[in-house]
Amino acid sequence: MSSESVRPVVAVIGAGTIGLSWARLFASHGHPVRIFDPRPDLDRVVQDFAAEHRDLAALITRAESVVDAVRGAGFVQESTPETLEVKRPLMAELATAVPPDAVVLSSSSTLPASRMVEGLPDQMAARLLIGHPFNPPHLMPLVEVVPGERTAPESVDRALTFYRSLGREPVVLHREATGFVGNRLQNAVLREAVHLVQSGVVSPADLDTLVTNSLGLRWAAVGPFEGMHLGGGPSGFRGFMEHIGPSFAAIDLHEPDLSAEGMEPVFQQVEEAYGPHGSAASAERRDRIQADILERRPPRSN
Ligand SMILES: NC(=O)c1ccc[n+]([C@@H]2O[C@H](COP(=O)([O-])OP(=O)(O)OC[C@H]3O[C@@H](n4cnc5c(N)ncnc54)[C@H](O)[C@@H]3O)[C@@H](O)[C@H]2O)c1
Repeated sequence: MSSESVRPVVAVIGAGTIGLSWARLFASHGHPVRIFDPRPDLDRVVQDFAAEHRDLAALITRAESVVDAVRGAGFVQESTPETLEVKRPLMAELATAVPPDAVVLSSSSTLPASRMVEGLPDQMAARLLIGHPFNPPHLMPLVEVVPGERTAPESVDRALTFYRSLGREPVVLHREATGFVGNRLQNAVLREAVHLVQSGVVSPADLDTLVTNSLGLRWAAVGPFEGMHLGGGPSGFRGFMEHIGPSFAAIDLHEPDLSAEGMEPVFQQVEEAYGPHGSAASAERRDRIQADILERRPPRSN
């Protein structure tokens, strides 16, 4: 028996953007993957996936139901729509279906695990936690690992070992916060970006050019805190805040107008710049650039 054939089975529940990208990652590390989704075109989706990734096809199976998908699974990665109306009944079904030693990971971008298992037994709550990726998870190293109030420490440890074995860089949050950390930061930047466009300071395309040529490049190397620590010279972050902090504090921040009328001109400018929706070619370009950066980026210790 090859070492690959003993990798735990992973059940992928939800075969949309995120579920299929997870499936690619899991299979590329030798895990048999069983995919379930009630979408009527699941057969075609799984066939297309296998045709596109021929080297992984033997490891990918379409499951007939949640119960079928999780049979014998070591891990379940849930990637269903971002609503408790879907995730809660699914967790109730998983509570009786998953093997006793399986860890259940939710890709949720904002919903805390504790809310998904309200009313369910401790045995289920102990094994559920958030494993929130950035899109696409087969490429992006980060997984935000967020235990719920009743998650067992052992489940957290197993999630960390699992994600690290897939070459991911998991970060554990100390407590649940709506939107976790990545999306709270993304939301803060997006709100200010919308405000700047609405107030006529910059166009969406120029704002994107500005970010990809400055903050985006820097943040692939150092985060905001280390970046400021370096920017502060010999006195580090303290020095930065003493020197430039008061001027930063004086920058007025305004709420963007997120109403339909407020957003319409912003949508129009984005569509003028990039077309009615993101193109496959643009997504490919994004993925290629990100893959190139990852390949060239030395390990953190260097
Ligand atoms: N798209 C992103 O950028 C992104 C990034 C990180 C995390 N997430 C999270 O991942 C999850 C999935 O997001 P997505 O963008 O892949 O959504 P999506 O709409 O592309 O896919 C969701 C899939 O779930 C299926 N589904 C619906 N009900 C189901 C059920 N009861 N059981 C199994 N499958 C069911 C749908 O048919 C659909 O194929 C969400 O929780 C989202 O917040 C999304």
